[in-house]
Amino acid sequence: MAIVPNPHKTTGLLGWIDDRFPLTKLWKDHLTEYYAPKNFNFWYYFGSLALLVLVNQLLTGIFLTMHYKPDAAQAWDSVEYIMRDVPWGNIIRYLHSTGASAFFIVVYLHMYRGLMYGSYRKPRELIWLFGMLIFFVLMAEAFCGYVLPWGQMSYWGAQVIISLFGAIPKVGPDLVVWIQGDYIPSDATLNRLFSFHVIMLPFVLVGLVVAHLIALHEVGSNNPDGVEIKKHKDPVTHIPLDGIGFHPYYTVKDLVGVGVFLIIFLGIVFFAPDGGGYFLEKPNFQPANPLVTPPHITPAWYFGTFYAILRAIPNKLLGVIAMFSSVIVLFLVPWLDRSKVRSIRYKGPISKIALALFTVAFAMLCYLGMQPPSPLYTLLSRIGTFIYFAFFLLMPFYSAIDKTKPEPERVTG
Ligand code: HEM
Repeated sequence: MAIVPNPHKTTGLLGWIDDRFPLTKLWKDHLTEYYAPKNFNFWYYFGSLALLVLVNQLLTGIFLTMHYKPDAAQAWDSVEYIMRDVPWGNIIRYLHSTGASAFFIVVYLHMYRGLMYGSYRKPRELIWLFGMLIFFVLMAEAFCGYVLPWGQMSYWGAQVIISLFGAIPKVGPDLVVWIQGDYIPSDATLNRLFSFHVIMLPFVLVGLVVAHLIALHEVGSNNPDGVEIKKHKDPVTHIPLDGIGFHPYYTVKDLVGVGVFLIIFLGIVFFAPDGGGYFLEKPNFQPANPLVTPPHITPAWYFGTFYAILRAIPNKLLGVIAMFSSVIVLFLVPWLDRSKVRSIRYKGPISKIALALFTVAFAMLCYLGMQPPSPLYTLLSRIGTFIYFAFFLLMPFYSAIDKTKPEPERVTG
């Protein structure tokens, strides 16, 4: 039976596959003939690095799961066993635990790039929304993973975070028992968090990343100038004049990023895997003890900002609402920014100062969230929380009235 030859005119094994599966089409559409702006800079490394870290987490996670025991009586010992007896176990664990921090560093920088260059603006709102869902699921994934070694901070961190649901009026206390499967964090809690961490959340995460990239390839990448490269196409080939094929140009550029990242990341994994107590916290080197509360229960550094916002508000329920709102407000950015231009390069002084203040407030809150509370720190947390929300909630006003510089027609290199 004759079949219509595939449009790529490929022959041999590739031709056989192309007649049945769009391999060459996918390769062209998403790599060699996916035209990305030619002016990507340093900030554009972090998307591909996020993919790399995701793969690292999935692979090392599979090997950890082979030896880890999701049982409150055995979890701690199984992690010690991985560290001491499993061949390469300590490296695999550190790749995973330091990988969690690397994931957040890379994703925060990736999001910050989006904020700077207005990558969330029309027509890229869905890329941003999928990104924010990724961020939300990533936080849940990190929280569940953190509980698994069943160390002191695992245990008490879980206790603090799950008990936040207790602030919900009427149903709160019952909800806490339902989530924990017990009156305190226990074996039942560990089992369900394990199942979320290993099965459900990774599935959702990978699905969202695929959706994120499909949305990106539908509309094409933004760039540091925030101008649309599709506006100027070659009249004959219809290729954007400021676009270059993702492969080989950006695959090679991204490999440089991968090289530099791996030097730094593996340097930390090999020589300072606990990151001075920030990547693996000191109390988590002690087994969970429901009878002894650690003097300071602090979250991992990547939750610092949101935890500081929680603590800045004296009322527990309002604090919980503020903490969740601080994540939810990020979802709304595409509709809060009313500037005539996308990129911070062409925005006016108010937007630039607002972004600078937000950056300082975010970093300050991140630090404060990890510190034991004190009157000064509480005051600073409140100032930081105010700036954090003002940045977003006042954006519709300051972005609309701020003076902008004219955007160039073509990218500026
Ligand atoms: C697992 C986590 C993530 C992965 C693997 C990932 C992957 C990527 C990749 C490969 C790109 C294209 C390369 C680049 O522009 O750097 C990209 C673009 C983008 N990502 Fe993500 N991403 C993740 C999380 C996020 C998050 C949390 C956000 C924000 C909420 C986000 C927002 C965006 C935006 C707006 C773009 C388009 C940027 C532009 O065109 O200027 N991503 N992402």
